[in-house]
Order: sequence, then structure tokens, then C-alpha cells
Amino acid sequence: MKIFLDTASVSELKEGVALGVVDGVTTNPSLIAKEKRPFRPLVEEICAIVPGDVSLEVVATDFEGMVKEGEELHHIAPNVVVKCPLTKDGLKAVKHLTGKGIRVNQTLCFSATQALLSAKAGAYYISPFLGRLDDIAHVGMDLVRDICEIYRVQGFTTQVLAASIRNPLHVVDAAKAGAHVVTMPFAVLEQLMKHPLTDLGLKKFLDDWAKLGEKI
Ligand code: E4P
Repeated sequence: MKIFLDTASVSELKEGVALGVVDGVTTNPSLIAKEKRPFRPLVEEICAIVPGDVSLEVVATDFEGMVKEGEELHHIAPNVVVKCPLTKDGLKAVKHLTGKGIRVNQTLCFSATQALLSAKAGAYYISPFLGRLDDIAHVGMDLVRDICEIYRVQGFTTQVLAASIRNPLHVVDAAKAGAHVVTMPFAVLEQLMKHPLTDLGLKKFLDDWAKLGEKI
């Protein structure tokens, strides 16, 4: 399973990539807006920092606009994956862009039927937003499980990118469900590596070593 960071923060991405466990990044218009920087130089910097796929989202809502923006985003760097929303025009744009060899991450997926159509249109990634479903008292992980099963049974090659991750349990459950990618905020990545028993154990080892007064 690949780990992506769900951020447009250059400092978070540099730190994540230096850790050696980050395979890519997802952005969206809200995450880009948070950075308060001109769009082009920001995303060019992100594409240079991250060795893997960088999802950049269109903001047009009509087919022609999405295709035009998708082609522009695609030319920014070879690792760009164009993000299109899961609407009627978004599906058409997936089919069109995919036909031109442009990889698409279909975003804002909230149902298995949407995911089925997106795979048929040829999406490279499908992004079910599980945290936002949890927020409205639906079990988001059920959607991730359903999509993984449908794609496996039907032989679709679209990769399941579990998105809208809120906590480490989401990551564990998405991994168990068979998601190909989990994209998470930097804070969740930090939570993944922390354990109080690790900190306590290390403290005890170092205290005992200090009492010995030796050097390695
Ligand atoms: C995914 O690509 C989205 O950017 C993201 O996961 C949305 O997460 P949110 O629901 O925390 O905004």
C-alpha cells in the first residue's frame, strides 16, 4: 500500500519525503488556498519535491473546462495526476483525458455506484472520502471495502485511494480493506509512528546506559 500526504505544504512534504515513507501527494483547492501562495510556483515546487504522483485538481465544473484545465495541469510535470470531481461532466472528462494518456484521480466519491462508473470511464485512481461519510454518520470504511471488492471481482485496474483520513485507525482499516493508497494529513502520519511504550522503553534503555558510563 502506498502512503500519500494530503497537503500542499512544502515544509510538510519535505519532512515527509525525508522520512522515506511518502510515495506521493494529493492536493485540492482548499489545501492550495491554505498556503496563500501563487498556484503555479507552488505546485511546480511540490512536483519537484515529491518523487511520486502529485494530484492537482481542476476547478472548472463543465466538461470542456475540465479537459482544458486537465491538459494544462498535466503539462506542469510528468508526475501530475489530474483530479476531476465525480460528476456527470467529471466522468466524461475522465474518459476524454484518459484517452489522451492523461492519468486522472476521480475525487469526491461517496458511493459504490459512482466508483463503478469511474472505473468504467478509465480513472487511474478513485478517491472515496471516508472521513466525510463518517462525519454524517455513515460508515466510510464500508464504502472503501465495497469499492475494493467490486474492482477485484470485476477486474478493474483503477486504484483505490482512501481519502479524507482523520486518524490512524482509518489507515489500518483501509490497509486491511485492500486500498492501494491512503492519503493522510501530516498530523496523521506523525501519529502512525508514535507509541508511548516506545518512548518509555527508550528512556529506560538510555537511563540504564547512562548509569553504566560506557561509550559505543
Ligand atoms: C483527497 O484527495 C482530499 O484532498 C482529502 O482527503 C479531503 O479530506 P478532508 O475531508 O479532510 O478535507
